[in-house]
Amino acid sequence: MPVDFVKKYIDLIAYHKMNTFHWHLTDDQGWRIEIKKYPKLTEIGSSRRESMGDGTPHGGFYTQEQIRDLVDYARKRFVTIVPEIELPGHAQAALAAYPELSCTGGPFEVSTKWGVHKEVFCAGNEQTFTFLQDVLTEVMALFPGEVIHIGGDEVPKDRWQACSKCQQRIKDEGLQDEHELQSYFIRRIEAFLNARGRRIIGWDEILEGGLAPNAAVMSWRGMDGGIAAAKAGHEVVMTPTWHCYFDYYQAKFDEPKAIGGYLPLRKVYEFEPLPDDIPADQQHFILGGQGNVWTEYIATPEYAEYMAVPRMSALAEVVWSPRSSRDFENFQRRMLSHYDRLVLKNVHFRAPRPRGLPAKSFVTGKRMVQLDYPQHAALRYTLDGTDPGPDARLYKKPIQIKGGKTLKVRAFFRDGWQSRVWTSQFIRVKPENGVHFRYFEGEWTALPDFSALAPQKSGRVYEITLAALEHRDDHFAVEFEGYFTIDQAGEYAFFLGSDDGSRLFIDGKALAENDGLHEIREVEGRIRLQRGRHAIRVQYFQGTGWSRLEIFYQPPNGAKQPLLPEMLFWQK
Ligand code: ACM
Ligand code: ZN
Repeated sequence: MPVDFVKKYIDLIAYHKMNTFHWHLTDDQGWRIEIKKYPKLTEIGSSRRESMGDGTPHGGFYTQEQIRDLVDYARKRFVTIVPEIELPGHAQAALAAYPELSCTGGPFEVSTKWGVHKEVFCAGNEQTFTFLQDVLTEVMALFPGEVIHIGGDEVPKDRWQACSKCQQRIKDEGLQDEHELQSYFIRRIEAFLNARGRRIIGWDEILEGGLAPNAAVMSWRGMDGGIAAAKAGHEVVMTPTWHCYFDYYQAKFDEPKAIGGYLPLRKVYEFEPLPDDIPADQQHFILGGQGNVWTEYIATPEYAEYMAVPRMSALAEVVWSPRSSRDFENFQRRMLSHYDRLVLKNVHFRAPRPRGLPAKSFVTGKRMVQLDYPQHAALRYTLDGTDPGPDARLYKKPIQIKGGKTLKVRAFFRDGWQSRVWTSQFIRVKPENGVHFRYFEGEWTALPDFSALAPQKSGRVYEITLAALEHRDDHFAVEFEGYFTIDQAGEYAFFLGSDDGSRLFIDGKALAENDGLHEIREVEGRIRLQRGRHAIRVQYFQGTGWSRLEIFYQPPNGAKQPLLPEMLFWQK
């Protein structure tokens, strides 16, 4: 990200009355801070060949001069920058530059893939500590804030288990196992920084194998790590993924590519950084909350702003307001004028999607579309597939749309500020198409007995997907029932993917079983079918988190493909 954007981001932090910018400067996929004593960190470690197979090199780093300027810029806005130097894991970019600091000696390349990597700093090699202390010495000279983030998350122990130096260290120090070796690593770094008047904070994995004596904990895998740390008298920053990871999707459809997850504005607002599990006399250990904008898929400043705002606004209100005074509907009303202020600051925030604009709908004839947009903005639209510009038709009253059309809508705020374009497809179907659905609400950990339940609602949909019907985010179930037609006899494979549980019946026979609470998982079933019409029934339930349901089939000698709306019928 360009230096100017980092400044704009610091402005946004200050504007929302937040006081800390946590800057994640090193990882497997890049080393982003100039270190004078180890020039290869940026010569080699700051560039990668490509990202997830895109074939495009990516690189860059901040010079010490740029960093001093940014620290000063932040200080003037009462924002402290907490730099993060990842150790002992997420270190592959550093190890690509200095492979002698690994357990195996390398060679390595700066990682081109996201995720967790096995290459970590060798904990048995004294050179590792010399290197990290030298790096941290330069970091301390640049960042005057008391706290240094040392990472500590996601450290696979594979290399340490197989390394004679690491095993020797475990023996010499009387450690139980590799978890205690991680703890030894963090404690040594902590002692070095403490002796120089600094304190460390690390991700909640630093609790494993014993917490360093003065360390603060950043709780990201939920709240439990933070609660345990506060109860043990350690300071905590709460940043659980499901309320605070602003790299997650903001809606379930029609959003730019993101890493995954689902974190709509309301869910940020529901964050409670001071959990009841922490006794009143220990609540002061919770320093606050933090939003995280990891940028794997965030290539531009505009997209970073889109992901951070207005979720950042919701987080600011959470950390600044007592629980009793928080009210999401009221917050949304006040956002109306906040969006206007953000326009004046040229922030590329995510404008709310108009109500009444589905991702797609199925129409037999025409459909009236009524949009509702309470924002201080005008909606303009097109039906010819082009992106609506300032001269596109103004939305004033419900519009009639035929099957086969694509509706594109964009909001125009004050001073010509434009939202991104929202797309809604109107797909043509025949009156005999569609399957029945029955929708239920309740908390389950496995598929319920649908025959014993009264549905909240029922009706007809043209696709066996969750997007086909209105449903709440969590704790619901749905059963689809109907027929499909095939024009070829033979062996068919069916693929049933879901998060959480699901089950597929063909002609009354249970063909694919995918029950239970789980992330997206696909199961397969095979059956011989005659030409003609066959019964299909799909059951699904959702606990919490991401919800998904996908069905594909593979005809004899054909490719895996979706069940198209024109194949589905509601009667035999
Ligand atoms: C993290 O998201 N690995 C802290
Ligand atoms: Zn080692």
